[in-house]
Amino acid sequence: MTTTVAGDVPELTVRAITVRFAGLVALDAVGFTVEPGTIHAVIGPNGAGKSTCFNVLSGVYRADRGTVRLGGHELTRLTPHRIARLGLARTFQNIVLTQGTVADNLLLGRHVLTKSGFTATALHLPGVGREQRRHRERAREIADFMHLGNVFERPVGLLPYGMRKRVEMARALCMEPKVLLLDEPVAGMNADERSETADAIASIRESLGISIVLVEHDMGLVMRIADEVTVLDFGRRIAGGTPAAVQRDPAVIRAYLGTGEDDVDEPVEGTGASAAPDAPAASTDPEGATHRRAASTSMRAGEADDPLRKRDPAVVDREETP
Ligand SMILES: Nc1ncnc2c1ncn2[C@@H]1O[C@H](COP(=O)(O)OP(=O)(O)O)[C@@H](O)[C@H]1O
Ligand SMILES: [Mg+2]
Repeated sequence: MTTTVAGDVPELTVRAITVRFAGLVALDAVGFTVEPGTIHAVIGPNGAGKSTCFNVLSGVYRADRGTVRLGGHELTRLTPHRIARLGLARTFQNIVLTQGTVADNLLLGRHVLTKSGFTATALHLPGVGREQRRHRERAREIADFMHLGNVFERPVGLLPYGMRKRVEMARALCMEPKVLLLDEPVAGMNADERSETADAIASIRESLGISIVLVEHDMGLVMRIADEVTVLDFGRRIAGGTPAAVQRDPAVIRAYLGTGEDDVDEPVEGTGASAAPDAPAASTDPEGATHRRAASTSMRAGEADDPLRKRDPAVVDREETP
């Protein structure tokens, strides 16, 4: 499929972003840089501010302070639509597509690029048919690339969960982004689906040369595919660097393990079983603590060899994202 030249992909720079919600500081002067063509993971325990960060990057939330720039463009005060047009596309945490065929959903992604718009389409103005055909061809190409070619005309509601998440990713790719934001792309998936999705993400970077910002709870996945990692905890950036470096960073280990002695020795499987898979949105502190322990277990040595072996219970939280 047609590739984006990595040279066209600008740097994404996040500088000193602060977001407050009625007294709670969800992000406190957070900054990082996503180098062109890299996979940059944003990780951290539950409630660390990862989704808030995404919502600022994509224009859903407005930061109280700080700036987000994509190359020469300042994104900080732009609407989500303008940001998408400038080349930043996102997927949502826990979105599950239910309506229409795969093709319909991918063509929705193309809409941001449609010149003629709804009115011209409705009036069947000249040139519209040609433009629509072109979009459909490209959607088909992207579906093939994401291994969805053989279900292109199928209703998404009939597809397995992992495949629907891939449709969501393909829909974002249909916007021809320079930067793709993925919020917990393997949440709720089984081991096979995780592995396939990890391969898909890696091949997006390799084949298209675009940058990917990945918010993920699954440490194994992050260690396997990320070039660089930013670690958040309680709204602050506590570490950053290569996956190997952050994994060894004492501040990161502390954040994931918490301070309780008994946390450290908790058996892995027992921890997994105790984390509620359908935990509601705003997690209470005790639940947050469970997530921290659960996430910490997957940072331990041995996971790196077979990162997708174990299902991290922390990834199945079902909070709503606006
Ligand atoms: N719309 C909102 N209103 C109030 N508080 C929010 C809102 N969104 C997030 N928060 C709070 O901000 C903090 C960070 O949340 P979030 O960014 O969702 O964390 P993460 O994605 O890392 O789990 C949490 O304490 C959360 O409860
Ligand atoms: Mg989140």
